[in-house]
Amino acid sequence: MIEKVLAIETSCDDTSVAIVDKTGHVISLVSASQDLAHEPYGGIVPEIASRNHSVQLLPLIDQAFIKAQLKWEDVQGLAVTNRPGLVGALIVGLVTAKSLSQAKGVPFIGVNHLEGHLLAPFLKDNDYAPPQDFQYPYIALAVSGGHTSIYRIKKFGHYEVLGSTKDDAVGEAFDKFAKMVGLGFPGGVRVDQWAKKGNPKSFEFPRSMINDDTLNMSFSGLKSAAARTVQELGPEKVQEHLADLCASFQEAIVDVLLSKLDFALKKYQLKRMIVTGGVSANSRLREKAFQLAEQKKYQVVIPPIRYCTDNAAMIGYVGIQRMNLGEFSDLTLPPFPQALSSDFKVLP
Ligand code: KG4
Ligand code: ZN
Repeated sequence: MIEKVLAIETSCDDTSVAIVDKTGHVISLVSASQDLAHEPYGGIVPEIASRNHSVQLLPLIDQAFIKAQLKWEDVQGLAVTNRPGLVGALIVGLVTAKSLSQAKGVPFIGVNHLEGHLLAPFLKDNDYAPPQDFQYPYIALAVSGGHTSIYRIKKFGHYEVLGSTKDDAVGEAFDKFAKMVGLGFPGGVRVDQWAKKGNPKSFEFPRSMINDDTLNMSFSGLKSAAARTVQELGPEKVQEHLADLCASFQEAIVDVLLSKLDFALKKYQLKRMIVTGGVSANSRLREKAFQLAEQKKYQVVIPPIRYCTDNAAMIGYVGIQRMNLGEFSDLTLPPFPQALSSDFKVLP
């Protein structure tokens, strides 16, 4: 039985290392954000992400052990994200995990980053634990810079994609909108902050596909509508109405996401839901998800922000469970830009 693993996450622009035990207890989690390195370019530059991972990863591994007050002898495995993500960024984590696996004589496993997000609500530490009665099955809304999907999670390893965005991911929509109104990168969190001071009813933005009978979504119409409004207003008025624009744009996204989540819960007759991925840090999405849960008597779990955004703890929790079921990777394991079709069962 593997009791503890060291986990590595480098799929995008956060370098993250964690030590996690088999119950999902996070013994240490250390991450380095690269926001400052990418900010001048207004978005993530893959080469810069890879280079920063190479510089930051080994010192973070040392820190993870120091923070946990543990040594290499205390971990029996390594978990590393090998899909989906930026290939150059994934390679840094994967090559490091393979080398350390050889050097330290511990097995390793490649983990699907999205599975990490889907199981993040089970993570716990000295300051946080999910509700004791939270368990499978549940509906998950996974919203990040690259992904926007709704899943039915029946049990560990059984994830059905119920619906996805047909175009932009919501994090991407937030980031593009932020750029349009001059808020720069990283956009989502800045839109969230400005929206707090604005009126969400000031501007009428479309809520595409909100009433269709699928769990698919679309955000490109919203993005185009916002671009038209920004152009019509002109730079001065945009600044004058910035808070209202942010609040109205954010509200349109949140309305669509929660309406789909509600629809999924009804359709599959479930009462439990989670919201996960970087965009689940959004304060309005959190607030309205809890309101929905209260109204409809659902149970909602939204992990603390350190487990919502990209982090190695969720990778470790997936990896340790899979290893304890006898699954391991070998040195031929490649990185993949996309998740594998075997990762998810896609419903017709
Ligand atoms: O999961 P994540 O950390 O990385 C991946 O994309 O896998 O998600 C990052 C995304 C970015 O698009 C960022 O703008 C968005 O999450 N985000 C937010 C907030 N915090 C992060 N979007 C809206 N409101 C926020 N508070
Ligand atoms: Zn992610």
